[in-house]
Amino acid sequence: DENQTQTDNQQHENFVATLPKNKGWRSENIFLYNGFWLSSDVIKGLLLIHNHFKPQPTDIFLASFMKCGTTWFKALMFATINRHRYKLSDHPLLRTGPQSMFPFLDTHIFLDYPVTNFDHLPAPRLFATHFGYGLLPKSMTSRCKFVYVCRDPKDALVSKWHFMSKLRSKELTPLSFSEAYEMFCNGVSEYGPFWDHVLGYWKASQESPDKILFMKYEDMKREPVVELKKLASFMGMPFTAEEEGRGVVEEIVKLCSFENLSNLDVNKGGGGGQKFTTKVVVENQEFFRKGKVGDWKNYMTYRRDERADRFDHTQQVEGYWFG
Ligand code: A3P
Repeated sequence: DENQTQTDNQQHENFVATLPKNKGWRSENIFLYNGFWLSSDVIKGLLLIHNHFKPQPTDIFLASFMKCGTTWFKALMFATINRHRYKLSDHPLLRTGPQSMFPFLDTHIFLDYPVTNFDHLPAPRLFATHFGYGLLPKSMTSRCKFVYVCRDPKDALVSKWHFMSKLRSKELTPLSFSEAYEMFCNGVSEYGPFWDHVLGYWKASQESPDKILFMKYEDMKREPVVELKKLASFMGMPFTAEEEGRGVVEEIVKLCSFENLSNLDVNKGGGGGQKFTTKVVVENQEFFRKGKVGDWKNYMTYRRDERADRFDHTQQVEGYWFG
């Protein structure tokens, strides 16, 4: 009931107030919790996940740092897993947009009091999360499959700065790109540090390749058919030769493409959105901006000792970063 909710919220705020804090990109502050900078809302979600979420061994998680391709991969994973259930010409994606395809666990867990029950979802249940690997309960990471999507951090930074600036409370002074850049480099942004995020999943994927598939936004752009086949096999639903012959892989790629999805009414301000909390609702259109590789070049120069260079020198994930 309402009193209980208020007591819970107060207790949560008291707890968060004990954590180291820094300036947030969207809200006033973010807090350091077990090595990651998180908003108060998602710390609440994380604690609920630890205390109440019951992972099923068949669950599949889409894990990503913010703005690395969550929306796109949500569409791809949902369309692939459910390809025998829906016709591609009359697909729920066309009516509701990718965000509603499956829950974003971090905040969805508390949309119902005290926690949302996900038992009604058909197996395999799909969930998205932005939490770093080390933050999640062992019951999840040891049993379930994870698809991790990574992106060039320079593009992730630019995308995140645009996204968060739009959502940022008008009562706060705007965050300049220079300031965002400095903060990002220092690891200070929601769900950051970026590098710890990527490395956590990267190492886990090296140790358990059957449990964690490490994918890249840029690879999916370059070779979507090859990458989607990898993704489908990993999820336990490989495309058959017959399906490949019928062009099913290409059709899913096309359905989920930036061009197709961003031009749908429901993703152009046609009323669809993602409800993160009772207060934070984000319109679908905000999840589609440019959808390109390398937009960072419009914000940073690539020369020694200059901005982009500093990024690439702190990169530690083998084989990922391009010069
Ligand atoms: P840009 O801001 O660079 O355009 P997330 O979904 O993790 O929040 O990431 C959003 C980023 O992915 C945005 O990047 C957005 O435009 C891009 N994006 C959204 N849908 C996409 C799609 N179907 N294909 C490629 N990129 C997509």
